[in-house]
Amino acid sequence: KAGGTREDELVTGGLDIIESETDRLSQLVDELLDFSKLDAGRLELAFSLVDVPRLVQQIGILLSPRAARLGIKLHIHSDPMLPMISADENRLRQVLINLLDNAFKFTNEQGEIVLNARASEHEVVICVRDTGSGIQEHELGMVMKKFYKGKNSPTGSGLGLSISEEIIRLHQGRMEMDSEQGIGTEVRIYLPIHHENGREI
Ligand SMILES: Nc1ncnc2c1ncn2[C@@H]1O[C@H](COP(=O)(O)OP(=O)(O)O)[C@@H](O)[C@H]1O
Ligand SMILES: [Mg+2]
Repeated sequence: KAGGTREDELVTGGLDIIESETDRLSQLVDELLDFSKLDAGRLELAFSLVDVPRLVQQIGILLSPRAARLGIKLHIHSDPMLPMISADENRLRQVLINLLDNAFKFTNEQGEIVLNARASEHEVVICVRDTGSGIQEHELGMVMKKFYKGKNSPTGSGLGLSISEEIIRLHQGRMEMDSEQGIGTEVRIYLPIHHENGREI
């Protein structure tokens, strides 16, 4: 039959729900698997030299359709002179996507999200900032704990931030978070720049 009948619409709607629920479940399974590996000390990183500006650029391309669909401005910026760092590129991408996923989840239409990479003397600093709901002061100390999720969190396992922090820790780095309710949130990742014979590698 040509055109959209009521039945077609129901089928399409059903398929959309199945698709988003499958995504949600597969994300949950991935997070639980990562969590149990981390918990058992079995998560192994595959280090290589990573070009952070290139990675940040790729992630921007990957997420710009979502930003457009949600009416959120996504700004990507990195210092082109950043040194290469030694990292597990896939795990680092996972962390950044996790942080951006949170930023999208807690930011309304017309909000802004910034992904920025810069260097300080000994570290590369990658920062994800949003103009979303923010986090209450008393909650801020808890959000990185495993399984902690805010009442306002519609989806997710509450594992994203704790997995991310652990992955960054395995890189000898650290993760910091600032947030103000009603203003927004900023998460910063600090990754060491390795020096060999006095030169950056
Ligand atoms: N960008 C953000 N803006 C506001 N709240 C956030 C943000 N990122 C994280 N949070 C809070 O921290 C909690 C834990 O985050 P996370 O570990 O990623 O779990 P999940 O996304 O599964 O809820 C969230 O449930 C939310 O309450
Ligand atoms: Mg999350």
